[in-house]
Amino acid sequence: MNIFEEINLKGYVDEMIDPTLDLFDEIEKLKKEKNAVILAHYYQEPDIQDIADYIGDSLGLSQQAAKTDADIIVFAGVHFMAETAKILSPAKKVLLPDLKAGCSLADSCPPHLFKKFKEQYPDHLVITYVNCTAELKAMSDIVCTSSNAIGIVESLPKDQKIIFGPDKNLGAYVAKKTGRDLVLWNGACMVHEIFSREKITKLKERYPGAKLLAHPECEEAILKMADYIGSTTGILKYATNNPEKEFIVATEPGIIHQMQKNNPDKVFIPAPPNNNCACNDCPHMKRNTLEKLYLCLKNEMPEIEVPQHIIERAVKPIERMLNISKKLGL
Ligand code: 13P
Ligand code: SF4
Repeated sequence: MNIFEEINLKGYVDEMIDPTLDLFDEIEKLKKEKNAVILAHYYQEPDIQDIADYIGDSLGLSQQAAKTDADIIVFAGVHFMAETAKILSPAKKVLLPDLKAGCSLADSCPPHLFKKFKEQYPDHLVITYVNCTAELKAMSDIVCTSSNAIGIVESLPKDQKIIFGPDKNLGAYVAKKTGRDLVLWNGACMVHEIFSREKITKLKERYPGAKLLAHPECEEAILKMADYIGSTTGILKYATNNPEKEFIVATEPGIIHQMQKNNPDKVFIPAPPNNNCACNDCPHMKRNTLEKLYLCLKNEMPEIEVPQHIIERAVKPIERMLNISKKLGL
């Protein structure tokens, strides 16, 4: 099997690593040698967050991808995020440690079905959440993230008809906050959909002072109980600025690494899911490991490729989002 067949099959280069190597040192060396930058989402494992040059939410990461002067971007996140970086910086080499790090939300919206859905509403503007494929972005008018979705909808005239996809939970939340009647695609995130209302209620009884922090990808029943609703960056800032000492965190638990680092005296409790698992890790985000990150930087693969005709169309709605965000001070 050659290296390309192996990447197709496994998603990454499966090479033996010398066990005596200090991967942190090796990655630092490679970064300098190759003028590479590591961008990591808050849901990545702690080791990856610690070696990253920038850690952020989806909006922050796309802003960094648009402005970096590195030759190589190693995207420690999932496929749609690395694709967005490639669309914004097409001349750069964008690497993803595991090409199979996908997203259930992006998968819940196949482009050929969305095209038919969109055709039913010819006078509607299309806003898509960044958690979708490049092909879907190419069919959109504006992209948004959980940090700017409300601001983007509010920046449009009140009588503007809007389709919002693919996340029905974020869409319903934005519709409620803005008072707009959005046409929603019926998609959802497998991680944020399975928080248990009953188990969170029990946790709140055990920690009566704890604030519940929730991501807007959660279902309405969870959002109704929350003391704060926001993106991962919003959740991190809220916990840092709030005087309370205990927080229940209803998003992917990777964020707790930064929350704990910024607030060593506070207690962060991951909200439990509606199954027998103790944690609610995103299986896609957690496909990336420090070993895979090292190998991908060393071999400069797997590399993200986006067809030129998709880049040309998808870049416009992403740039619109970045421009509106700038005006909103985000
Ligand atoms: P944010 O990065 O916008 O908080 O979104 C979280 C998420 O689900 C990313 O996959
Ligand atoms: Fe996708 Fe949900 Fe994982 Fe985010 S947490 S990458 S939305 S599956």
